[in-house]
Amino acid sequence: MCGIVGILGEHEVSPTILEALRRLEYRGYDSAGIATINDGALDRRRAVGKLVNLSDTLVHHPLPGKSGIGHTRWATHGKPTEVNAHPHRAGSVAVVHNGIIENFSTLRKELTAANYGAESETDTEIVALLCKSHLDRGATPVEAVKRTLARLEGAFALAFLFDGEDDLMIAARKGSPLAIAHNGHEAFVGSDAIALAPLTDRLIYLEEGDWAVLTRTESHIFDEAGNEVVRPETRIAESAAQVDKGGHRHFMAKEIHEQPAVIAACLDHYLDGDAIRLKEGQIDFAGVDRIVMVACGTASYACHVAKYWFEALARVPVEIDVASEFRYREPPMGENTMAIFVSQSGETADTLAALRYCKDKAKTVAIVNVAGSSIAREAGTALPILAGVEIGVASTKAFTCQLTVLAVLALRAALDRKEITPDAAAAHLADLRRMPALVSQAIATEDRVKDIARRLAETRDVLFLGRGALYPLALEGALKLKEISYIHAEGYASGELKHGPIALVDETVPIIVFAPTDHLFGKTVSNMQEVLARGGRVVLVSDAEGLSKDDEAWRTIEMPRVPPLWAPIVYAVPAQMIAYHTAIAKGTDADQPRNLAKSVTVE
Ligand code: F6R
Repeated sequence: MCGIVGILGEHEVSPTILEALRRLEYRGYDSAGIATINDGALDRRRAVGKLVNLSDTLVHHPLPGKSGIGHTRWATHGKPTEVNAHPHRAGSVAVVHNGIIENFSTLRKELTAANYGAESETDTEIVALLCKSHLDRGATPVEAVKRTLARLEGAFALAFLFDGEDDLMIAARKGSPLAIAHNGHEAFVGSDAIALAPLTDRLIYLEEGDWAVLTRTESHIFDEAGNEVVRPETRIAESAAQVDKGGHRHFMAKEIHEQPAVIAACLDHYLDGDAIRLKEGQIDFAGVDRIVMVACGTASYACHVAKYWFEALARVPVEIDVASEFRYREPPMGENTMAIFVSQSGETADTLAALRYCKDKAKTVAIVNVAGSSIAREAGTALPILAGVEIGVASTKAFTCQLTVLAVLALRAALDRKEITPDAAAAHLADLRRMPALVSQAIATEDRVKDIARRLAETRDVLFLGRGALYPLALEGALKLKEISYIHAEGYASGELKHGPIALVDETVPIIVFAPTDHLFGKTVSNMQEVLARGGRVVLVSDAEGLSKDDEAWRTIEMPRVPPLWAPIVYAVPAQMIAYHTAIAKGTDADQPRNLAKSVTVE
């Protein structure tokens, strides 16, 4: 959510900052801007909308200089206009910001009263004005930033540049991620490793409350109390540098197609023959009497699926909550509670806050994609999902890799709790090993899905149904469809339909039913009949056996026959492809849907 980059370089920085912003654009694309210092003078360019607009602006109005900061915005305070675009400037200071300054209206009033009026509606300009007010009173840039930071409440990652100071950049982090890097003659600041990967192979993640003073030759990091501190350097994973579409039209398409490979890599990491390897930490479920799972959006649906697995296999009660509710509810935790946090980015503000609530109350486990992220670093144990960089705003391969790790964990819990025999676990693991091949077969139905999606693109509402562990898949299918095609969609447990939603059913509302042949198939088919009896148009997603028992569905998508327990991993694929191809048919931007951003670092 908002991407930040800053460079004190040896060459012109605008093109490099623009390229880094391109890699960060998934974090927000409402507007973008760059400020540089050229011959000591601060200047900036900003443009509304996607980065291509800023790129065009720079063609006509180049921005020379070897020091610069850049920003790609997901709007919080103020509409996506040029005046609200970052970098914000007040006198000699320019600043880019990710996060929310919660006390900004108090500060704004104070500053206005002292004749420091803002021209934009943003909270960020208040930071620039506050800093300027200290500079005007004779503070040095470092002193001015220090005093500014002391007044800010909320979440922020900030980078400052100063007119007349070609060799100085100041960065600060509280609540929103920020990393710095140095190679002895250049210095960098970036929201994440993806931004900085082409520029450096090592970086340092600032910790909560840290701020850093960078020049080309050295960097100094201070903690919130102002003490100089040393933070560990991290090697950037090679995969962070590989941000391309691999011949696909969209990142989302590429990421859907990568699933067999990344699920296989994930399984290889966690399985050694029949043995489950959890070398990242000593997770032991033997004494655990309750599991709490917390996440947001798609990651929370992965938790929903896993609840079925943990309860069925390990016979341990599981509670699931969306992080934004959990964090303020003050739920009781016991020492035998295990709290599991699932997050692709590892930076989702609500999930991070929920983790912090639990840290000293329960055993905490994080399941994350981005190694080195805040959630990975702060959890008692962090388990990587190894999906590789996910750029498409709609999560796809991260979801199936989250499910893969959760499946392994559920089996481990069942073994630790002696609820299943090693032989039974080995049989389930053998089934799990088949997932990459089965996911490949599911992807092979893409042409069929495209045909159906062309029809869905003409509709206004779509319902998704599923039972058992396929119910969360109905929720996920609906979320995916609405976020990238803007078609209204709802997911329901099949059995819930007659308790209200069936009133929505008529011949204009397609109903997508996920129904592998398992012990619940017959019940789902009965619910489907209720829909058909009311003129509903059913898209039945099932295997050959299931489809052979139906001759009334409007359309069908044939899935391979899957081990029932792990069916959600395979059925996620048609859910993703339906959304993707409906978006394509409608002409919406599948990778960068309106109003959304990946990595939601504000609450
Ligand atoms: C939907 C989607 C979001 C994320 C949610 C949590 O396709 O991607 O719902 O799942 O914002 O993000 P992470 O997993 O980064 O915590």
